[in-house]
Amino acid sequence: MSDQFKALLINQDGESFTREIKSIEKNFLKHGDVTVKVEYSGLNYKDALILKNGARLVKEFPHIPGIDFCGIVEESKHKDFKPGDEIILTGWRVGEIFFGGYSQYAKVNGDFLVKKPKNINLRQSMILGTAGLTALMCSFTTKATREELLLGDKVENVIVSGASGGVGSIAVMILNKLGCNVTAVTGKDNNSEYLKSIGAKNIINTSELSKDSRPLDKGLWDGAVDTVGGKVLENILAQTKDAGIVAACGNAADIKLNTTVMPFIIRGVKLWGINSVTASIKRRQFLWNEVGKLIDFEILEKSIKEINLDEVIDVYPKMLKGETSGRYIINLNK
Ligand SMILES: NC(=O)c1ccc[n+]([C@@H]2O[C@H](COP(=O)([O-])OP(=O)(O)OC[C@H]3O[C@@H](n4cnc5c(N)ncnc54)[C@H](OP(=O)(O)O)[C@@H]3O)[C@@H](O)[C@H]2O)c1
Repeated sequence: MSDQFKALLINQDGESFTREIKSIEKNFLKHGDVTVKVEYSGLNYKDALILKNGARLVKEFPHIPGIDFCGIVEESKHKDFKPGDEIILTGWRVGEIFFGGYSQYAKVNGDFLVKKPKNINLRQSMILGTAGLTALMCSFTTKATREELLLGDKVENVIVSGASGGVGSIAVMILNKLGCNVTAVTGKDNNSEYLKSIGAKNIINTSELSKDSRPLDKGLWDGAVDTVGGKVLENILAQTKDAGIVAACGNAADIKLNTTVMPFIIRGVKLWGINSVTASIKRRQFLWNEVGKLIDFEILEKSIKEINLDEVIDVYPKMLKGETSGRYIINLNK
């Protein structure tokens, strides 16, 4: 391991908030029992908020952001990992209260790590990252939980909101691969062709689901993945058929949910909250092992932008203004 390596550091000193690429030393890394040579990290909306001002998520400065990363174990005091292992990290508040992946080396608690499945490469694991794991959790909840765990009817017609976002687009692809007819909800009409290319059969505009909802509407969906919350989620609940599962993971539109008990007590609809940050390692390992069957990387690749640490500082304000699209991955060797 090199004594000196590059990292993006944020610092707060009174009114001043800085972001700088610095050369740091190994002993600067203070958390965890596994040292990883980071190959790729991701730029997520949460990262952009942290880069802006710490987003009240970062408690101590200076800090290294980066909520997801992948790489190769360099040193380990953890029983499950040895040098050379290829690992994936998402969540667990790494990049928030623990140092994250915007660094050529990261030191992390081995209990947070997942071994990369052999049938995908490290770059592909970060093409998915946090958004991909969350989409996998939502899609399996909507489809497999009803069919397998609850022994319910087949899930055919599903709806995905925020469909051109990171979680939404990957959920569209997975649910299509799982054999569902996917309706994608998007505010961007010019994304229709892209959404069809990743597996959407029908497209509806977000405005159609942004009206006040009725307690119950015509039942249209066997299941749903909602990434936006608010009125869109209210309308989806009212349009979900008997025993449908609505997996809710996000609040891109609103944190509020103004609904009635009717979908739950008349149709037995289930509103299933998704939190990928603290999902168990057992569940993560299962889901990452499904990726090879469910994800078409050739298609996803078209919407990927690979950047370096310096470029992160230029791109994050655009992400906060909604001016970016597709997933940004950060190559730590670039
Ligand atoms: N619970 C968890 O564990 C977890 C994990 C990861 C992410 N999340 C959350 O999941 C959500 C989606 O994350 P992401 O990474 O996919 O974000 P993203 O890439 O920014 O996508 C969000 C999408 O939501 C839609 N959208 C944005 N603003 C909207 C508005 N005002 N009204 C209606 N739709 C709107 C847009 O889709 P269109 O362009 O198609 O309109 C946008 O692309 C976020 O709220 C994020 O915090 C939760």
